[in-house]
Amino acid sequence: MNPFLHRIGIDLPIVQAPMAGVSTPEMAAAVSNAGGLGSIGVGPIDAEPARQMIAAVRAKTDRPFNVNVFCSRPAVANAPREAAWLARLAPEFARYGATPPPHLTEIYQSFLTDDAKLAVLVAERPAVVSFHFGLPARERIAALRAAGIVLFATATNLDEGKAVAAAGVDAVVAQGYEAGGHRGVFDPDAPDDRLGTMALTRLLVKSLDVPVIAAGGIMDGAGIAAVLALGASAAQLGTAFVACPESAAEASHRAALLGPPTAHTVITHAISGRPARCLANRFTTLSASVEHGAIPDYPIAYDAAKALHAAAKAAGEFGYGAQWAGQGAPLARSLPAAELIARLRDEMRQAAAGLPG
Ligand SMILES: Cc1cc2nc3c(=O)[nH]c(=O)nc-3n(C[C@H](O)[C@H](O)[C@H](O)COP(=O)(O)O)c2cc1C
Repeated sequence: MNPFLHRIGIDLPIVQAPMAGVSTPEMAAAVSNAGGLGSIGVGPIDAEPARQMIAAVRAKTDRPFNVNVFCSRPAVANAPREAAWLARLAPEFARYGATPPPHLTEIYQSFLTDDAKLAVLVAERPAVVSFHFGLPARERIAALRAAGIVLFATATNLDEGKAVAAAGVDAVVAQGYEAGGHRGVFDPDAPDDRLGTMALTRLLVKSLDVPVIAAGGIMDGAGIAAVLALGASAAQLGTAFVACPESAAEASHRAALLGPPTAHTVITHAISGRPARCLANRFTTLSASVEHGAIPDYPIAYDAAKALHAAAKAAGEFGYGAQWAGQGAPLARSLPAAELIARLRDEMRQAAAGLPG
């Protein structure tokens, strides 16, 4: 058996990606009960709701699951830049009879400084905790490990992968440029080689001693079999689960994912202040020409995007949402999570046997 699966206590090399605001306890439990690793994302919520979400997963499964936190550097406020950004968005608000908020705030706290969330994780001891956007301080990693928690962290290049392995994290999530949602880049201002899943997975498998979980553009069993053939220990799929009935994605997000616009996804900084892959929509179009330096820091920019989305939605326009999706979006299926896992398993076996998918 794949030693990584044995270590975590799962049957299938399939990780349902943590998707803050989209993955739910129902989804995570269904995936874990079906033999994969279900995940919830508690990056943008406080410690107590995170505790409740963990309890909600536990109410539905006694199998291992993953809890994901954001290790982004704390936001740097810049009042003139934020005011200029709001002024730039004002005509969009006006289009829907609304005005921008008077100012923007850092709408959630990074795990780097969130002692209460660390205490919840150490007390609750989920089987796996995963880090996105960087790594927490050594003492935080030590506290989670001492609680018997297996740790994962996202890397988008070799340097990040080396940092993950050196920090004593148990597995690295190799997130290719194809991936939906936020890129896990440690420093959003650093040059980005935009490595694809195939090259990145192979690079990390060859260079690191820790298991690699490939992520980005994997939508079916053939994709999972492909990354396993590259030496990955498992595949992490996000977009493939967005349209599941257990998903908390807005109806407009599901409709856009399953509809014709899915041919186009784009990376934008403008929604949250960090690069993320989204279905092309009104927000990505309006911000396509905005220079990077004009956008407030993460997650301050997200405050503006959420306000604009709410204003437009109230007027019946859904094209300003954070409709995160990867390049594999046109391959998305709307199936219950357990059924999707069963299909992925069958397709993976078929592909591994060399049968056409
Ligand atoms: C809707 C959505 C939300 C996401 N939210 C998170 C998150 O909260 N934490 C995280 O580590 N990754 C998040 N991701 C990224 C996934 O972990 C993963 O890297 C990505 O989904 C893989 O690419 P794919 O979407 O093409 O499968 C999100 C992805 C999507 C599509």
